[in-house]
Amino acid sequence: MTFASVNGTIVPAEEARVSVLDNGFAFGDSVYEVMRTYGGLAFEPGRHFGRLRASAGRLGIELLASDGELMRQVDALLARAENGESYVRIIVTRGVGDCSYDFTRVTGPTVVMILKPLTPYPARHYQEGIRVAAVGVRRNHPRALDPAIKSSNLLNNILAVREAQARGCDEPLLLNHEGHLAEGASTNLFIVVEGTFLTPPLSAGILPGITRAVVLELLAGLRMPCHEKPLQLDTLLAADEAFMTSTTREVVPVRQVDDSPIGDGRPGPYTCRLMDAFHAYAPAHCGQAALTAAAIPSARTSD
Ligand code: PDD
Repeated sequence: MTFASVNGTIVPAEEARVSVLDNGFAFGDSVYEVMRTYGGLAFEPGRHFGRLRASAGRLGIELLASDGELMRQVDALLARAENGESYVRIIVTRGVGDCSYDFTRVTGPTVVMILKPLTPYPARHYQEGIRVAAVGVRRNHPRALDPAIKSSNLLNNILAVREAQARGCDEPLLLNHEGHLAEGASTNLFIVVEGTFLTPPLSAGILPGITRAVVLELLAGLRMPCHEKPLQLDTLLAADEAFMTSTTREVVPVRQVDDSPIGDGRPGPYTCRLMDAFHAYAPAHCGQAALTAAAIPSARTSD
């Protein structure tokens, strides 16, 4: 079932109401997180709440609820919905204002949680890999709207997804303002060259992905070298393997970028090893026990 809570009150999602004067609606003045469950428990809640707080803080939105309170609200929704696995979206807006830039007239924040059954991506994405489009849309310049802020202003991502879909691809890949590889519309990127993993640094102007952070930790634990460094599209096209990461996609191999196969065009051994490591890690890092996990750095990408 799909339920939502607005400032802690749970109702079926279609009955949930937010004012048209809410800054989230009128200005896109809000931040969000997407979480998922394993075994019915939210994955890495501490890291997600930490990033939510960091995003809100960057916009001067004061998230009043403690992590414990957010966890209680998520757990209450999970208990009410009784799904197998769930997708949870938490949206925090500045609050209800008067359609002006006078923030003193805003009463908030508004905290909305939407919980629906998790729709898995097709199995072939994992067995064969996805096809990615190197799109013309550039990732937002960090000095305009820093991608490290998980803002609900998703027009940059939407333009990129539309371009990828028009080309029959599963996910766009965006370059940053300098022409270096950045990230997908809702994924981070890793590539493998001669046994070494490479991924764009946070300074490329990307979201500090939680799956990305977990993958970096898993690689360190496996003693598999990984470097965070600026990367060119040509390096990806010549790579042995590539994969993308996100909460809902987990670790998904990339078989092709537009018409260029990556490696032999199939999920490679390094990617498969990491997919296994991630599947072993995820169910063990959920719920209350994972609430105090190390928070993601707020990643100010430029000053
Ligand atoms: N997307 N990059 C962008 C731009 C994202 O929106 C996301 C998350 C990621 C991956 O981050 P994480 O591993 O923390 O999910 C990277 C979520 C899943 C979404 O918007 O649906």
